[in-house]
Amino acid sequence: MKAYGAGETRVVALDHVDVDIDRGQFTAIMGPSGSGKSTLMHCLAGLDTVTSGQIFLDDTEITGLKDKKLTRLRRDRIGFVFQAFNLLPTLNALENITLPMDIAGRKPDRAWLERVVETVGLGGRLRHRPSQLSGGQQQRVAVARALAARPEIVFGDEPTGNLDSRAGAEVLGFLRRSVDELGQTIVMVTHDPVAASYADRVLYLADGRIVDEMRQPTADQVLDRMKDFDARGRTS
Ligand SMILES: Nc1ncnc2c1ncn2[C@@H]1O[C@H](COP(=O)(O)OP(=O)(O)OP(=O)(O)O)[C@@H](O)[C@H]1O
Ligand SMILES: [Mg+2]
Repeated sequence: MKAYGAGETRVVALDHVDVDIDRGQFTAIMGPSGSGKSTLMHCLAGLDTVTSGQIFLDDTEITGLKDKKLTRLRRDRIGFVFQAFNLLPTLNALENITLPMDIAGRKPDRAWLERVVETVGLGGRLRHRPSQLSGGQQQRVAVARALAARPEIVFGDEPTGNLDSRAGAEVLGFLRRSVDELGQTIVMVTHDPVAASYADRVLYLADGRIVDEMRQPTADQVLDRMKDFDARGRTS
């Protein structure tokens, strides 16, 4: 459970959510604005605390960790992709990708890094600065940066929200390949049925609860389900 504030301004953002994220799978989280998607993801990733309940990454209870250990867990075992790419303008693509590891004083696993860079498909663009890259290319750099340290799980809050459909498709294709070819685990918040169709499973949130899920979704099925929810929301 996650509540913000107290008394009259108290908002229950997550209400008895019980969910397992499958390893090596691509999970999408959908739901209306304000339904708790970002809150859920931030709690799962240890970026925010829960009011009650427990969260585990593998055997580690995230909700039981003190600041220092939590920071280290986030750094070593979790990757993030933000909606705004958050790349450093003075570094080239490759330097941006390895930056978190450089800061942590860790040597990148060369073979892994090469695979990530290859999967990213940036080809000759690695020495380019962000301003010399398209939006889709920049976001692919951001995804590669999240994968480079080989985290157990990667979270994205609308990682294609700022991209046109072609650039979005590039990034989603790369996320999909990182699951299929690199065994990555991914959780992505999205409003877009087409984006959700790249996932293995879609979780639907409404008013802080998980109200439905779908396996192997197609864009049409996701769209139909969204229309269902809208219709129900209007009549209830
Ligand atoms: N820091 C905060 N303080 C108070 N209430 C908050 C805070 N953050 C979120 N909320 C509330 O919690 C609920 C869930 O918010 P959340 O950001 O998780 O929604 P969301 O599903 O990600 O929405 P969107 O699609 O608009 O990004 C909302 O009612 C929101 O107003
Ligand atoms: Mg949100």
